[in-house]
Amino acid sequence: MIHVHGPLLFFHVFVVIFQTTNSKTVEAEALLKLKESFQNATVLDSWKPGTEPCAQGKHWVGVVCAHGVVSGLLLGHSGLSGKIDVDALVLLSRLRSVAFLSNSFSGPIPDFNRLGALRGLYISDNQFLGEIPSDYFSKMAGLKKVWLSRNEFSGPVPSSLARLSQLLELHLENNQFSGTIPPLEQKNLVSLNLSNNNLEGEIPAGLLKFSPNAFQGNAGLCGGNSGRACDHSATPSPDSPKDHNSKNGLKIAIWVIVAVILVLLLIIVAVIAILLMRRTQETLFDAPVKENLDTPVRTYSTNVKKDINSNRKGFGSAYRAVSSRRGKPAGDLVLINNDNGSQFGMSDLMKAAAEVLGNGSLGLSYKAMMDGGATVVVKRIKEMNKTGRDKFDAEMRRLANLKHKNLLRILAYHYRKEEKLLVYEYQQKGSLMFLLHGDRGISHADLTWPVRFKIIQGIARGLGYLHTELSTHELPHGDLKSSNVLLTRDYEPLLSDYGFCPLISSSQAAEALSAYKSPEAALNLHVSPKSDVFCLGVMILEILSGKFPCQFLLNAQGGTDLVQWIRSAIQEGREADLLDPDIANAKNFQSGMVQLLHIGAACTETNPDRRLDLREAIRRIDDIDTCQRG
Ligand SMILES: *[C@@H]1O[C@H](CO)[C@@H](O)[C@H](O)[C@H]1NC(C)=O
Ligand SMILES: *[C@@H]1O[C@H](CO)[C@@H](O)[C@H](O)[C@H]1NC(C)=O
Repeated sequence: MIHVHGPLLFFHVFVVIFQTTNSKTVEAEALLKLKESFQNATVLDSWKPGTEPCAQGKHWVGVVCAHGVVSGLLLGHSGLSGKIDVDALVLLSRLRSVAFLSNSFSGPIPDFNRLGALRGLYISDNQFLGEIPSDYFSKMAGLKKVWLSRNEFSGPVPSSLARLSQLLELHLENNQFSGTIPPLEQKNLVSLNLSNNNLEGEIPAGLLKFSPNAFQGNAGLCGGNSGRACDHSATPSPDSPKDHNSKNGLKIAIWVIVAVILVLLLIIVAVIAILLMRRTQETLFDAPVKENLDTPVRTYSTNVKKDINSNRKGFGSAYRAVSSRRGKPAGDLVLINNDNGSQFGMSDLMKAAAEVLGNGSLGLSYKAMMDGGATVVVKRIKEMNKTGRDKFDAEMRRLANLKHKNLLRILAYHYRKEEKLLVYEYQQKGSLMFLLHGDRGISHADLTWPVRFKIIQGIARGLGYLHTELSTHELPHGDLKSSNVLLTRDYEPLLSDYGFCPLISSSQAAEALSAYKSPEAALNLHVSPKSDVFCLGVMILEILSGKFPCQFLLNAQGGTDLVQWIRSAIQEGREADLLDPDIANAKNFQSGMVQLLHIGAACTETNPDRRLDLREAIRRIDDIDTCQRG
């Protein structure tokens, strides 16, 4: 056997090398062919024969690469028109996502359905028109995101959409689709907009979870929360209308009875469970509960809502109440940053008085006050359970070695296979999110322009440091958002929750980390340090506007699309409208604020290649600083 393997292996390696070089030229040729089919392709100057689309450090504009191979085309807002040569696209075997948003393409929808492996198709804001064949999507089984909004499509909504089992997002608003909505029952569908078409008939049951403004502007739609009841007697049905209604009535009655019985059963089970829990909890709470806290009760206006009073208990009991294990946690704390001399162990922590601070995307965090007077924040991270001990130790030590004035320091950690605790310094002022959006009365007034400027500058510098020190990480921070920025007594910002990427599986990361809210991640393309820059941009806009960005809400409901807002404000030259009224009246400084808004906009550029470089962002922010003083 072995002597056969040798030549075979050699042959295999040879084929792979041959294929890669070969596929590089195929890719370049395919893209050049595509470019030829465009009109007004001036922005594609970097697409030149003799260069490589995925060359290290200088990709062709709008070309997204994964492992050196073209995986996506991000050609939004590029003034393109003409044809889209799908024959050329077919040659890109790893192409997963095409985005031609906001160009001037017209005519019938191109045969994108020949790209069977596509995950994302984004062609909103063009002038495509006409009917889309009903089976158009039937050979695109992996399609997750379909954006066709604001074109001139007409005819029925293609029924093959209903058979895309992976569909997550479907945007058809502002076209002229007519007829009824196909039965879109996909459980994964999380984002839908069918507004402003000519749709009619009943809204399918599977779509009733969406808000009415996903359906508005379709005069013929009824049922659900469209505001119009369906008149079933008007639709001719095989049974006589009356018969139909009475049958329906009977069905409803049966359902109501079943529901009532279920609810009663649930209540009984719940009561029994509560009684049992009370009894076990008494035996679990062995630590004395301290009730001598004097911190003000904070209410968070956004997704971190916790009435802290109701969560005051000993850390040990708080810990066990949410822990599946009843005993003492095995093992001790590993102290990693101990230069202020405070010594504490797991037993001190277990006895500490604690309160829940919030439920973040990675798990619960507690404030724990230990007997010696030291106060720390403990985070129970639920997303790292697949990480082995050695890797975890190594990463923690690496993070502990990071020292910068704008980083929150990790003091200690605790590792158990199914449980990880990270212990951080506590900051009295709490998070930037709380200050900006919490109880405005308490703290918002302190956020003057100089304070906000200092916060932005500190965040950018902290991020710059991380990008240098963790330059091998795909995401040096990964979860930059206002709830992960804490403030010292004198409003110096401290970044927290940085550098977790190597410890979290990619699917968990995609769900939990804010870098995955960047456009490249939303387009199913890979994230990079530039995704952190996007998050920085969103935060700059958030701090200047005082508005909560919808980008960082898990369900994207509520909040403001600051990125879109600043884009249109800049086009119309009314950036000042975006400023928080609480700072906008510092008239002398408005030019600095507007400059900063432009930096925020450049950091949130959709195309990561055109997004502002972090060093450059820091330099420009520092420039404003000099002007503000001078
Ligand atoms: C050509 O593209 C540029 C930007 O790339 C754009 O500003 C211009 O409007 C486009 N021209 C036409 C005729 O579409
Ligand atoms: C759907 O699109 C319309 C028109 O652009 C918009 O007004 C509405 O808010 C959108 N609804 C959702 C749920 O996105």
